Amino acid sequence: MRIERAAPPCALVIFGATGDLTRRKLMPALYRLTQQRLIPAEFAVIGTARQEMSDEEFRAEMRKALEEFGEDKQVDDAVWQSFAGGLSYVSGEFGDDGTYNRLKDQLEKIDRDCDTQGNHLFYLSTAPQFFGVISGKLGQVSLNKSKGWTRIIVEKPFGHDLESARALNQELAKVFHEEQVYRIDHYLGKETVQNLLVFRFANSIFEPLWNRQYIDHVQITNAEAIGVEGRGSYYESAGTVRDMIQNHVFQVASLIAMEPPVNLGANAVRDEKVKAMQAVRPVPPDRVDEFAVRGQYGAGYVLGDTVPAYREEPGVDPNSSTETFAALKLYFDNWRWAGVPFYIRSGKRLAKRVTEIAIQFRDAPLRLFTQSDAPVEPNVLVIRIQPNEGITLRFSSKLPGQAMRIRAVNMDFRYGSSFGVPAPEAYERLLLDCMLGDSTLYARRDMTERGWEIVTPLLEAWKHLAPDFPNYEAGTWGPEEAFDLIERDGRHWRKL
Ligand code: BG6
Repeated sequence: MRIERAAPPCALVIFGATGDLTRRKLMPALYRLTQQRLIPAEFAVIGTARQEMSDEEFRAEMRKALEEFGEDKQVDDAVWQSFAGGLSYVSGEFGDDGTYNRLKDQLEKIDRDCDTQGNHLFYLSTAPQFFGVISGKLGQVSLNKSKGWTRIIVEKPFGHDLESARALNQELAKVFHEEQVYRIDHYLGKETVQNLLVFRFANSIFEPLWNRQYIDHVQITNAEAIGVEGRGSYYESAGTVRDMIQNHVFQVASLIAMEPPVNLGANAVRDEKVKAMQAVRPVPPDRVDEFAVRGQYGAGYVLGDTVPAYREEPGVDPNSSTETFAALKLYFDNWRWAGVPFYIRSGKRLAKRVTEIAIQFRDAPLRLFTQSDAPVEPNVLVIRIQPNEGITLRFSSKLPGQAMRIRAVNMDFRYGSSFGVPAPEAYERLLLDCMLGDSTLYARRDMTERGWEIVTPLLEAWKHLAPDFPNYEAGTWGPEEAFDLIERDGRHWRKL
């Protein structure tokens, strides 16, 4: 993994430059990197999309995007001047050879005029059906190589199922070497997710406890208060398992479950993550209900506001059977985790936004404090990914006084108060890493396919069973069955 360094000269081509992601995430991230001088003067962005637009119009659009979505909604004129000077636009259909010839000319011009040294980065921020097309066309005009380096970032969703993910990987592999392909998963760019490696492997006190001998179970909660936010038609074809679990949540789970890597090189880290995921016990297709639950929200109240049911959202089928919530029980059948369940839940329109990992330790071996008025709680280590980023260790303490009364107390680390500096946005980190050639925080081919392999039995089983939706009210913690999933095992979801 890299230590702090600035990006080398390069040209970035964004396919889908008029889309939401470019406006909301990519432009603000590139602007911030420019502002922090982490991107050199020899840097240029070519926006590409179907819409006709001049360079000037593209610049004006991007400035508007920064004003709307940038960190402080303000654009510094001096930074903007240097950033905007490198912006240009090439319009064209993604399936049209002419687009790529124009791009090639433009890249040659930029390499000459801006001294970008033939370093080219392509960002596929389009609808997924274009990923294979664009990569193939780039190959046709030999834009898969140059006199510098050439890399390609592929946005999510990476495939719709195992078969389509494999097909996409094959298409990319026809044109690019695996070392050139960067599959983005923005969760890996989150500061708190990166800290999982540091927390586990830069401290000596936790690692000896990080196994079946001390840990009873792990809970990963990924809750959103928002609904589908105008993305109803995309979400209809996705659902929670595809949208969040197969990628983001599995990435997080693999960082918790993995063995220590031999070093922090991209492949050493990713080898261990994949190895952990390979140990996940396949869900038996005829017993999916024991291991997985799905839900869809009906109307309700979220943080005081009434919100409509999923089926009433624009772009959503009024009889939709797409899940907006899923809970899973996974076992990693390996030496470290044998018999330790990982309970995972993820959903939209839940009671609040919170993503956390709770490592629930075993009970103390002997109940010595039987005279306490409340049962002694087992220790919990909570890693808060967002919001209120931090880590809490919960342990028992004696309540001051004559009686032997025991209560759980928290030992707390908060990013906000400990460091007092804001963390960079995930896209800033990830874009810079890619420019620097560090793919540690990107998903490797085998990991994307393994993620799909794990969820395939659920998706297959659910396809053939009509669900009884909606089965949870917006603003709650999901359907009853999600509680049954964990309570059957004598455990409980944490109250958040
Ligand atoms: C995206 C999903 O990948 O992640 C969205 O497509 C989801 O549906 C989003 O809302 C959540 O990201 P974050 O960073 O807000 O947790």
